Amino acid sequence: MSRIFSGIRPTGPMHLGNYVGAVSNWVKLQDSYECVYCVVDWHAITTEYENLKSYNLRERSEQKAMELIAAGVDPEKSILFVQSDVPAHVELALLFGMFVPLPWLERVPTYKEQIQNLSGKDLLTYGFLGYPVLQAADILVYKATHVPVGEDQLPHIELAREIARRFNNFYGDLFPEPEAIQSETTRLPGLDNRKMSKSYNNAIDMIDSPEVTAKKISGMITDPQRIRRSDPGNPDVCTVFTYHKVFTPPARTREIDHLCRTAGIGCVECKRELAANVNAYLAEFRERYAEIAARPERLREILGDGAARANAIASRILAEAKQAIGLI
Ligand code: TRP
Ligand code: SF4
Repeated sequence: MSRIFSGIRPTGPMHLGNYVGAVSNWVKLQDSYECVYCVVDWHAITTEYENLKSYNLRERSEQKAMELIAAGVDPEKSILFVQSDVPAHVELALLFGMFVPLPWLERVPTYKEQIQNLSGKDLLTYGFLGYPVLQAADILVYKATHVPVGEDQLPHIELAREIARRFNNFYGDLFPEPEAIQSETTRLPGLDNRKMSKSYNNAIDMIDSPEVTAKKISGMITDPQRIRRSDPGNPDVCTVFTYHKVFTPPARTREIDHLCRTAGIGCVECKRELAANVNAYLAEFRERYAEIAARPERLREILGDGAARANAIASRILAEAKQAIGLI
């Protein structure tokens, strides 16, 4: 039997890179699998613990759930809930923490990277080191077999597999080793061609208006060698073209490739066309977002129902784990 689990942190607005790289995959999988999708608020606390008083974590989690629904996560098909509403995650994470060797955690590439990248934050905490242990518990408390994630998460999935294996070796076969599922689309870069990220200020947010989206696209980096309109360009080094490959039909993308190389199209025009295509792509999201945002009581009902369904599975599997170690 297979079951999908994935999680997303409620730390900021969902951007186009999140959607193209991961969430669109969540949506596709719903038709073929039992899917469990979670807004991981405890994980957000690992990096935001210093300013929680003004952070409005619950509001942010609800906002993230609305974005997921707008993106096409369908609560009729999938279980959608907030992590802290299902306490079994945390209990299983504590259990795992008893046998996960410290060097496994210190070795995770994202660990040292994040500490360096987020140098304004003190991340030398027990909670931050344990981030991937909680992530493993998220997955394994549903005995999930497949985890759709972006490539930056692969080390965490590998660790979840190692944790499952170690549990099974010590206490008997209980957990499957979950496998990552990667989305076929290439990673969408940010407006400046670096990784798209809120902290680089180079993201198109899913909730941006059509005007803001067009404005952001008009400021994108193009082929730096192409200075005048009459200069031929090189689409292979142009971020705008990378986007066309995702948002523009293939035949037209080939045409743009040719027009660019022969100075048959200007960058302003090329960006305008891209903006129209990205806005068309986002139209459905915007429509569904407006719908759910207008009905906060419906959102709470969805999350309440999701938590109840998640809890029914998670509490049973947690009980099996506790039984296996002799706690019950
Ligand atoms: N660490 C993931 C991220 O930053 C979020 C996450 C938490 C997750 N628990 C998960 C993803 C379980 C997949 C499965 O994107
Ligand atoms: Fe990039 Fe388009 Fe300009 Fe070519 S024409 S350099 S693809 S923006």
